[in-house]
Amino acid sequence: MRFVDCVCRTLRTALLEPLPWSFIPDPAHAVDSPIRIPSLHIPEDVHYGSFVFSRESTRNWMQILTEEELDRREGMRNEQRRRSFTAGRIALRTMLAEHLGLAPVDVPLIIESSGRLACQGSDLHLSLAHSGDVAVAAFSTRNVGIDLEQIRPKPATLLDYILADEERDHVHNLDLDADRTLFLCWTVKEAVLKANGTGLRRSPRLVRTSIDTASSHAEVRDPSDETWDVHFGLSDQFAAALAVERPA
Ligand SMILES: CC(C)(COP(=O)(O)OP(=O)(O)OC[C@H]1O[C@@H](n2cnc3c(N)ncnc32)[C@H](O)[C@@H]1OP(=O)(O)O)[C@@H](O)C(=O)NCCC(=O)NCCS
Repeated sequence: MRFVDCVCRTLRTALLEPLPWSFIPDPAHAVDSPIRIPSLHIPEDVHYGSFVFSRESTRNWMQILTEEELDRREGMRNEQRRRSFTAGRIALRTMLAEHLGLAPVDVPLIIESSGRLACQGSDLHLSLAHSGDVAVAAFSTRNVGIDLEQIRPKPATLLDYILADEERDHVHNLDLDADRTLFLCWTVKEAVLKANGTGLRRSPRLVRTSIDTASSHAEVRDPSDETWDVHFGLSDQFAAALAVERPA
């Protein structure tokens, strides 16, 4: 029974009952979902998935979490945090299961000391982000970092708080409204900080961006002066960004 519960989504779609959650490989095709995740350019060697969950679907898929993850989930006081944690793990476990030919619960996810996830015994770099009931995940043999934020009204002063001095003119000249500019810059910077593993231990101000809205690409220097390619997308609801290590 457990094997049947854990077969990858392709087999499940083909052989079993309809999926209790919606898998959206390309959000543009998610015509029946009120949630609009932005499209991103995904390099060929990067695996990417975006998922939308409901309270019921998250509950149904909790069975693919390990005992340790279920315990961690139970320890979370906030229901929204429990749901987003579950959504992120389901997203990553399901994608990796398909790639590795394992049952989702058997994917050997470990948490590194930095807080980022790794897949034991593989050369894959993983990243996930969640926002409400939406989760995005990416993995590759190249280092990757992903971020997703719901665009919402914020004080205009926040943007200058996260910008380096040399970025200000460039960013203020982007042809976007204030909230979209803020969340675009935030996701681009956070994706890079997640890719290099420091997260928000390093200030987003130390990450310097050069954003090209026409190509939805940014060239970004992290606090160690390493350059990253970031592919980003904006919908009316979300900003999303995928940072990818430059090929050697
Ligand atoms: C990584 C971090 C930027 C994520 O922030 P967020 O916007 O709240 O959450 P996101 O949805 O974007 O990403 C969450 C995922 O990032 C991953 N993550 C956690 N720490 C990470 C790190 N140092 N580097 C890369 N990824 C990390 C985890 O998989 C996490 O999901 P999970 O907790 O459900 O397993 C933030 O948690 C962070 O900076 N953590 C490290 C430092 C820290 O703990 N600071 C205290 C808060 S400032």
